[in-house]
Amino acid sequence: MQATDISTLEAVALAATRSAAVASYAWVGRNDQKAADAAATAAMRAALAGAPGRGTVVIGEGEKDDAPMLFNGEKVGTGRGPDFDIAVDPLEGTSFCARDLPGSLATIAFGESGTLWSPGPGFYMDKIVVPPRAKGVIDLDDAPERTLAKVAEALGKKVGDLRVMIMDKPRHKELIARVLEAGASVQTPAGGDVGGSLAVLLPTLDIDLLLGVGGTPEGVMTAAAVRALGGGMLGRLAPQRDEEADAIRAAGMSLDRVYDCTELVAGEAFFVATGVNGGPLLGRPRKSEGATIAESLLISRGQVRHITHTTFELTSPAGTTKETR
Ligand code: FBP
Repeated sequence: MQATDISTLEAVALAATRSAAVASYAWVGRNDQKAADAAATAAMRAALAGAPGRGTVVIGEGEKDDAPMLFNGEKVGTGRGPDFDIAVDPLEGTSFCARDLPGSLATIAFGESGTLWSPGPGFYMDKIVVPPRAKGVIDLDDAPERTLAKVAEALGKKVGDLRVMIMDKPRHKELIARVLEAGASVQTPAGGDVGGSLAVLLPTLDIDLLLGVGGTPEGVMTAAAVRALGGGMLGRLAPQRDEEADAIRAAGMSLDRVYDCTELVAGEAFFVATGVNGGPLLGRPRKSEGATIAESLLISRGQVRHITHTTFELTSPAGTTKETR
């Protein structure tokens, strides 16, 4: 993709996550995950319809949760302009949104056509995410104790000073216990491994690595951010049910193959998130004197941009926007 195409698509992605975040914000704390997901998805789909070019949703979200979704293979865009791939979760952290707990995000990644990995029928993958300085030392086949020792050395820290993000899931009980036993500290949110991975990549958030099994769409979106910033990430399909494993094998895919982030995202890509209900990364959308203010992150071409966007809804019937970067 040309630089001008990337800039144009970045603006489309920002508009799409912003629309999804504002739409789902209306459902924050209403204990209705489906309605929140549906609102985010409809808003994002409408925003993506105007994207210049021919986009393909390589990996959407929802099949595993039977949620409303942008489905795999769905075409978006006007048809006039570059070809591109999308990995998307219009509402990442749906239950956080429904329960008004911090951490839900509207998320999307764009890549050059043919560059985003498709997990086929795989819903879950095992992941390690580390900052750039530790990218060369990780191995998904290492025991967690060895991973901690290697990452600590690469970061110039002691294992006891490492802060590890692992989602609080029954499948991670032993992993969390072993990481604690090794001396590292562990942050265990109920979900949200995209946000957890971003916390690894952004030095201000003070997390050294993310470990554990999470969703495949989240994995591919994360890989776009990791790749854009030169971090390290490995992933491997990790089915959580027999039917999922059977479907992966039937699709001719390997359960053993480890993918580097440059294979999960095999070309230029960028990642965008907008905050839905606040959290350490991004604030929630706010209304002020007829304006809606939303906070987004754009991770692209080696840079992280924190963008506060104000949409003035009342000043003009056509809608006037002002962007502050
Ligand atoms: P949703 O977008 O479906 O709410 O996903 C939230 C999440 O916690 C992801 O961050 C994570 O990758 C995945 O769910 C883990 O799935 P599960 O909750 O089924 O273990």
